[in-house]
Amino acid sequence: MMQPTLIADQTWWVGLNDRKTDLFEGLWPLPRGVSYNSYLILGEKVVLLDTVKVTMAGAYLAGLDRLLNGRKVDYLITHHLEPDHSGSISLLRQRWPEMKIIGNKKTAEFLREMHGIEVDMPIGDGDALELPGRTLRFYLTPMVHWPETMMTFDESNGTLFSCDAFGGFGTVDQSLFDDQGVPAWYEDDVLRYFSNIVAKYAPMTHKAIGKLGGLGIKTIAPSHGIIWRQDPLRIVRIYDRWSQDQWETGVLVAFGSMYEHTEAMAEVVAAGVRDEGVTLRMYDVSRRHVSYIIRDAWRYGGLILGAPTYDTKLFPMMQHVLNSLPKGLAARRTLGLFGNYGWVGGAVKTMQAWTEEQGGKPVEPIVEVRFRPDDDNLQQCRQLGQNVAQEVKKRQNN
Ligand SMILES: Cc1cc2nc3c(=O)[nH]c(=O)nc-3n(C[C@H](O)[C@H](O)[C@H](O)COP(=O)(O)O)c2cc1C
Ligand SMILES: [Fe+2]
Ligand SMILES: [Fe+2]
Repeated sequence: MMQPTLIADQTWWVGLNDRKTDLFEGLWPLPRGVSYNSYLILGEKVVLLDTVKVTMAGAYLAGLDRLLNGRKVDYLITHHLEPDHSGSISLLRQRWPEMKIIGNKKTAEFLREMHGIEVDMPIGDGDALELPGRTLRFYLTPMVHWPETMMTFDESNGTLFSCDAFGGFGTVDQSLFDDQGVPAWYEDDVLRYFSNIVAKYAPMTHKAIGKLGGLGIKTIAPSHGIIWRQDPLRIVRIYDRWSQDQWETGVLVAFGSMYEHTEAMAEVVAAGVRDEGVTLRMYDVSRRHVSYIIRDAWRYGGLILGAPTYDTKLFPMMQHVLNSLPKGLAARRTLGLFGNYGWVGGAVKTMQAWTEEQGGKPVEPIVEVRFRPDDDNLQQCRQLGQNVAQEVKKRQNN
């Protein structure tokens, strides 16, 4: 049920918590759910900003009706046509046929193809909707997350409706606002959200942050997760840091293994990282969802991958990891590779080819073992862990 909450003068959060969707975009686990944040300005004119996923349209319309108390929506500003925000537009159009939909050129194209609906008021970068006592200015922020993505800044009270940027996974129940307490897990999950959803477009995010810098933002109201009004710059700093790829001193060891030969190697590689006193994360790629592996590959400066050969190829779950990591990341991380085989091999070769394609260069030694690793092999594994960790420390200090 919607719990409309005032976030600024005459401005309401009219979002909903989704605890039933297990995978965002059919891909990314939502162990703590997700919120679709929609906002309603109830002034002389009624302005709705974004909608919710269509599966929740019933609760959404019921909540809006209660708050509107017989009034109609005059304008719908649609920042992003991904269906988690645009899904209910057709239903809104049916309910309020005179509602004017505001969007940019790309929005118009996507809205037509997706819903057969036209944008009524096309806007460009820097244009504004002037309302009695209120100016809503639009900023185009292409590729933060889709080509049509944009933001709205309410110049009268300093609220930035930032769409997917500055958002995070997790329902907003314990806290809707940052001053109600940002749960410890939230920042971790902001990075997972960022690295899984928008990191491919990190430079565009950085550019958008530059563009918004001088606006005098008092509140950041994203389309997912917590609203920032006590310290809005905190989430901007977090995003800015990640969008500039400022990694932490640490190493992620991700391995796959069927019969524990590669796993034994991974254990020793990990010991090598620990020798250097560097933060370590270690994931079995078959058991840890790739969503978390991407997050920590983004977070830490060192990335060591190890897997066996499977039907002449790289172990499929490791191949999935390689396919899922943001393009070019391998070149920006201190990379280590190890692998195992029984007859001809292929795993290490595939990982090496992937590294080259990405413009990366693995740290020595690359350890390739046939079946059971012997003492020499394990010594090499330890060396690999140490070398990667040392290199990460060195790069961090430069
Ligand atoms: C289903 C299966 C398929 C395999 N395919 C190949 C292969 O095509 N080429 C190869 O050199 N080794 C292959 N192997 C051998 C493994 O790479 C080797 O046993 C390795 O030690 C497995 O590492 P693990 O113990 O970490 O799972 C295969 C093993 C299994 C179980
Ligand atoms: Fe999106
Ligand atoms: Fe979204």
